[in-house]
Amino acid sequence: MKNYSKILMIGLFSLFCLQTFANDTIISVSTANTEIVILVKNEIAYFNAYGSKLESNDILLSEKMLNRRGGRKVKMIASGEIYPSYGRGNTNEAALVATHSDGNLTTELIYKSAEFLHIDNNVHQTKIYLSDNYYDFNVTMFFNAYQKEDVIEQWVEIENKEKGDVKLEKYSSTFLNFLRDNYYITHFYGAWSTEKRMVEEKLVRGIKTIEAKRGVRATQMENPEIILSKGIPAQEYVGECYGIALAWSGNYKFNFDIDNTMKLRITAGINPYLSDYVLAEGEKITTPKAILTYSNAGKSLMSRNMHLWARKYALQDGDEIRPMLINNWTGTYFKFDETLIKGMIDDAAEMGLEMFVLDDGWFGSDYPRDNDKQGLGDWELNTKKLPNGLNYLAKYANKQGIKFGIWVEPEMVNPKSNLANDHPDWIVQSKNREPMLQRNQLLLDLTNPEVVDFVYGVVDDILSENPDIEYVKWDANRHVENLGSTYLSNDNQSRFFIKYVENLFSIYEKLNKKYPNVILQACSSGGGRVDYGILKYHHEFWPSDNIGPSDRLMIQWSNSQFYPAIAMASHVGSSPNHQTKRSTPIKFRCDVAMSGRMGYELIPSHMTEEEREFSAKAIKTYKQIRPIVQFGDLYRFNSPFDADGYTALSYVSASKDEAIGFAYSTELHLREIYYQMKFKGIDPDASYKVSEINKAQKNFFLNDGAIYSGEYLIERGIQLKIAGCYDSVVLKLIKQ
Ligand code: DGJ
Repeated sequence: MKNYSKILMIGLFSLFCLQTFANDTIISVSTANTEIVILVKNEIAYFNAYGSKLESNDILLSEKMLNRRGGRKVKMIASGEIYPSYGRGNTNEAALVATHSDGNLTTELIYKSAEFLHIDNNVHQTKIYLSDNYYDFNVTMFFNAYQKEDVIEQWVEIENKEKGDVKLEKYSSTFLNFLRDNYYITHFYGAWSTEKRMVEEKLVRGIKTIEAKRGVRATQMENPEIILSKGIPAQEYVGECYGIALAWSGNYKFNFDIDNTMKLRITAGINPYLSDYVLAEGEKITTPKAILTYSNAGKSLMSRNMHLWARKYALQDGDEIRPMLINNWTGTYFKFDETLIKGMIDDAAEMGLEMFVLDDGWFGSDYPRDNDKQGLGDWELNTKKLPNGLNYLAKYANKQGIKFGIWVEPEMVNPKSNLANDHPDWIVQSKNREPMLQRNQLLLDLTNPEVVDFVYGVVDDILSENPDIEYVKWDANRHVENLGSTYLSNDNQSRFFIKYVENLFSIYEKLNKKYPNVILQACSSGGGRVDYGILKYHHEFWPSDNIGPSDRLMIQWSNSQFYPAIAMASHVGSSPNHQTKRSTPIKFRCDVAMSGRMGYELIPSHMTEEEREFSAKAIKTYKQIRPIVQFGDLYRFNSPFDADGYTALSYVSASKDEAIGFAYSTELHLREIYYQMKFKGIDPDASYKVSEINKAQKNFFLNDGAIYSGEYLIERGIQLKIAGCYDSVVLKLIKQ
């Protein structure tokens, strides 16, 4: 073995990760079934492959193949490196662009060493140390390989040890390099109430960018999750595909660069937009984590990898059943008082719900929060509405046998508030410009430590003064415009976007530590903050203010690509729906909510007798099936984005003993009276009793209670009589 560099080998693990072939070093960052292969040749670390784990990696790349560029032989090429920089002739997308202390714009990274560590039996860490070959400038690449889940978490630490500042203009979390093929990306776009529409497109020559530039509410319009499919458009059960997500709740940027040789290079990380990062001598930056998974069996397996990983590693208490709650927002909006809330609590308890969450409008005394024009920022109780306070209500709920939660939006302020009057300098603002309102509110400058203390203090005070509150819905209803901080120095304004998110995360971290039993929901005008950065500190997210069930099928379907059902709050609302204006049967609304974390969002006393009775039954049913929905393996069958007007999916318990199937008709199917439901993920060698549950008046499955072989359910499937618009069926499969 040619001794290119110092390689630390820790136990047997290193032997599996590191091989030599034809004098080159090959490093495999592997999980049970997948691997990223890194090739070290002539002191350069190259990204060689990401895919199925092979027995051996016989990489036969001649010097010429590696070093060829446009027919000319050059000394080295940075573009296929593990972390390509601007420099060494690289004019393709770089992962790193830095201006060194002497003004040099090029960086040439060489491989120094690798380090391997078993964090535990399941999490294996690889560190690759790179350094500039002239400057005292270091890049450490981290890969955490989650064996069972086939997920690789990747991030980078960049350290300046030069005598002077280094300015970073690009500092990606990950770089992925793929050989010539056809590539398709699925990404998500939307707006308030139409979050997460899903679209797939073929990558062609040039760069395709998916990004956010709004700092806060960064996932309302685009999302930091991409499915990359190789060869063919992404299929549910066949084909090679990759899931790439960024754990960051601020600006992100994904670039997909197809160059003149038709190779694909992907960079993903913090969006460098307005975010030059100056590293002083001795300073480091750690990028957010990119979450990667590879599947050779389509999107379905890709999603299950992500879900399994998320429940174990990326969510608060991912192994704990979520309570069924009722939130008052779309029932009452700002118009409520103690009597109404107590009545809702009584009704919720009677229906079998487990928690009441009081939304916006409970605070503000000089400027009562009776609408969205005032009071935001003044977190004292509105005693006119709630004379006995929050803990009184929490105790009242507890007496009725349910828990109590509260809404907050501590990062924001209405100009009409004591907070805005007292601390105008705490507000994000650009010099000599008019403040720009969104929903009549402004953003607090979370780069300022005083503001950080205030924001933490808002929630800390509420929770410590009202110890019976067990749930917090944290909202954020605007994004950043006309960026500017009175706290950051003139030279440091470009730190704003990053510092904001880092400080936000630090607040959550403190809250999680001090209140480990309080459930947190991430919300931002609906689905404006859904990402694995924020979710680390939360139990669930609010996907959209649109709870119209047929729209929700789409929003939930898209979210299910990367996020597990346990994290997806899904509420039954009133009919007609306030956003879509569509009327739907209570059964359809319940069946849709049941495929996520079911809850309610209406005034129960406004429901019809039939709606109340049905709901009480549905709540009972959901409690029985929720371990399968919340912890089970998801198999999707029929997409709401397809034109046929059907949606179908199922959850299968880990043991494959039980499964819950959901099928929905969102169009009138006239004489095509049956939907053929074929299952996946169940045991083909077992028999299952198939029963329709959560029934209304009529049966949609005519062979209710029949026993089928798993093989039959998978290969032939069963007929469901859902032909009308908003017909739906829930099936329970029990292994015999
Ligand atoms: C936006 C959220 O998405 C809603 O659920 C609700 O909490 C309102 N904000 C309250 O202002």
